Amino acid sequence: IKWTWRFIYLSLLGVVGAVVYDGYLDRHPEEQFVPDPQKKTLVILGTGWGSVALLKKLDTSNYNVVVISPRNYFLFTPLLPSCTTGNIEHRSIMEPVRQILRRKKAAVKFYEAEATHIDVEKKVVKITDNSEIKGKVHETEVPYDMLVIGVGAENATFGIPGVREHSCFLKEIKDAQAIRTKIMDCVETAAFKDQEPEEIDRLLHMVVVGGGPTGVEFAGELRDFFDEDIKKLIPDIAPRFKVTLIEALPNVLPMFSKQLIDYTESTFKEEDIKIMTKTMVKKVTDRTVEAEVTGPDGKKSLITIPYGLLVWATGNTLRPLVRDLLSQIPAQKDSRRGLAVNEYLVVQGARDIWAVGDCAVAGYAPTAQVASQEGAFLARLFNNMAKTEALEQRVRELSASLNLKPGDTAAVTEEIESIEKQLRRIKDVKPFHYSHQGSLAYIGSEKAVADVAWLNGNVASGGKLTYLFWRSAYLSMCFSTRNRALVALDWIKAKVYGRDVSRE
Ligand code: FAD
Ligand code: NAI
Repeated sequence: IKWTWRFIYLSLLGVVGAVVYDGYLDRHPEEQFVPDPQKKTLVILGTGWGSVALLKKLDTSNYNVVVISPRNYFLFTPLLPSCTTGNIEHRSIMEPVRQILRRKKAAVKFYEAEATHIDVEKKVVKITDNSEIKGKVHETEVPYDMLVIGVGAENATFGIPGVREHSCFLKEIKDAQAIRTKIMDCVETAAFKDQEPEEIDRLLHMVVVGGGPTGVEFAGELRDFFDEDIKKLIPDIAPRFKVTLIEALPNVLPMFSKQLIDYTESTFKEEDIKIMTKTMVKKVTDRTVEAEVTGPDGKKSLITIPYGLLVWATGNTLRPLVRDLLSQIPAQKDSRRGLAVNEYLVVQGARDIWAVGDCAVAGYAPTAQVASQEGAFLARLFNNMAKTEALEQRVRELSASLNLKPGDTAAVTEEIESIEKQLRRIKDVKPFHYSHQGSLAYIGSEKAVADVAWLNGNVASGGKLTYLFWRSAYLSMCFSTRNRALVALDWIKAKVYGRDVSRE
């Protein structure tokens, strides 16, 4: 009988647990989004690092929140280079924005669209549905009281001829998918019957332009792919595979310490990745890259490099929306790299507009770390602003009641004083301050480099242990538990069965 009771008790516990878990999964704000005329409309552009960090911490019950982005998911960019070789599957690092919004306290409206123009006078954003399937209405306007711009940046090409037509970028999921397909296309074409040796060499030459962290991480992933998988599957062509990294400056990874730059360059040598520094690409054709090399004597010469796959990773430039906004605001006439913001991330010279992340110029590097801290700062600022307004309203009501009922004033006066104390504390919002946690980059062969902030100083390390740190740091930073589980499973899957080399 004792065991029967224990069984019943445990079964009941299981059922309660399942119901609570189901309830948790079903948690969402009210179905219908009805804009409350009492509240301000806060429009957020983008679903990247900056905007999503803001959304995560924002108390959405204080505003009518509208999110607009052509991408209906958040992308964990630090693991994007791993998607180009199939070490990680792309969906593992995407989090649907609808899932994020479902967990908010009050409903948020989402429109999958691109903001094409901001009218700062009328306070409206023009939006366009640029997706493949369009309805009868695919262009409209969204009015705002407050606007946050977190639209990120575009790939810089510096107007170099042929770049847009012939190279792959590495910024979005579709870029990683295109690279993955092209790598395998080059490999299978090189393995085609009677292929000429010179053509095999060209097809198996993978050229990466830009020695920043994007280019370095991609080159490392590519070499791993060949050494760990292609070599086993197509051994006859494997010895002819080559990776070249081209960089205009005298060294790669300029943001890392000298020690780690040297470590990366020597590791690349061991991995057989050729680094060409002081080499500036000037022109790209469908099969070659033309570059200007500065020799040790300072003399410049032109070289032509044949390639099979070309990946272009030379940093950021402005999005058309940001360029258009800059032209409307006289105070921004000298801004070249993005929207100049003040220490509260307010766009200078504009009313009720804030900017975060790669499209804002606040004096920091365009990184996910900066963007997410800026987004979180704005959430605190907006939560405080809403609290302030609610408390000021309460003070007004209490003061009015004092005038109406002058008899019992002690309790009311005490409440007013307490609210005013709270108000002073809330209003004292410190300006945005970026706290740098360090820089991490994967360099191939299960090695990584890290410049990590530690006890008011910096610790530089590189190697296999740093790689384990890199893996655990990025795994813990993934957006959700679901992402974490999928990424961990992908790593295990690739280790046990190898990367999937089928060409989609
Ligand atoms: P994004 O994250 O780029 O988001 C911009 C959003 O705006 C997107 O949702 C986009 O769809 C949307 N959007 C675009 N145009 C419009 C429009 N007209 N209207 C509305 N919405 C629009 N940083 C690190 O700190 N650590 C790393 O390890 C790291 N690794 C990286 C690896 C790669 C391959 C890349 C490309 C970048 C990496 N970065 C890393 C940099 C980091 O990803 C960016 O700094 C960060 O994404 C910037 O965040 P954001 O919110 O400004 O822009
Ligand atoms: P980047 O701006 O850091 O580097 C681009 C490189 O391309 C520069 O070194 C530049 O000298 C070179 N270049 C430009 N034009 C060239 C040409 N014509 N020929 C040859 N070389 C040329 O760009 P990246 O790597 O895309 O990074 C963008 C931002 O994202 C940076 O702020 C970076 O810190 C961040 N990021 C951080 C990562 C990390 O922390 N692991 C990973 C990827 C990006």
